[in-house]
Amino acid sequence: MIHELNNPIIKHKLTQLRRKETPPKEFRTLVEELAMLLTYEAAQNFETHSAEIETPITACRAEVLDEEQFVVVPILRAGLAMAGGALKILPNAAVGHVGLYRDEKTFQPVEYLFKMPPRFAEKTLLVVDPMLATGGSASAALQMLKNHGASKIYFLCIVSAPRGIEKLAADHPDVEIYTAAIDEGLNEHCYIVPGLGDAGDRIFNTL
Ligand code: PRP
Ligand code: URA
Repeated sequence: MIHELNNPIIKHKLTQLRRKETPPKEFRTLVEELAMLLTYEAAQNFETHSAEIETPITACRAEVLDEEQFVVVPILRAGLAMAGGALKILPNAAVGHVGLYRDEKTFQPVEYLFKMPPRFAEKTLLVVDPMLATGGSASAALQMLKNHGASKIYFLCIVSAPRGIEKLAADHPDVEIYTAAIDEGLNEHCYIVPGLGDAGDRIFNTL
């Protein structure tokens, strides 16, 4: 299921991110902030348990989230800039890395790294990548994680295209998608329109 966030703060930050004149330092900051806000929204589904604590006034029962049950999984490269934002919300989560790039001619994902922490398959995974275009990269990353037994997965992206959303809905209907925007579509190079350009290049200043 797709959740498009309509909060004005998110829309405003996204507008700044889209502007072609936004420099790499500000771009990275905005990606991190948007990742933080997406994680906060996804967290509405997270379960807490009740624990006995003491305030300076009295003992009481209060809700606790077991942060160690979460793994943040950036899809390299661009997802790396989102990981810091997710970790601001879940500072004690583990981090795993999936390396994929999209072949420039075929637009098919090419895998080059799969490095996950111990027992990740038992945990809740937050897979982060700023762009969901054809959906090839996200679908392949989710499949790699599922092939190792993972079953509780959220996918967080900043900009998405209908084609990518449809692919994830078909390939991974169990994965909840959180996005800051659903754009019009893709151009002939499979870039999102209007989008924000090449996220990895803008984050790492490799244009
Ligand atoms: C970008 C982006 C996604 C992918 C989305 O990565 O970060 O991973 O493209 O496109 P898709 O939905 O059509 O697969 P890219 O391949 O540019 O690699 P990079 O992050 O290393 O720059
Ligand atoms: N990858 C990007 O970085 N941007 C797009 O618009 C599509 C794929």
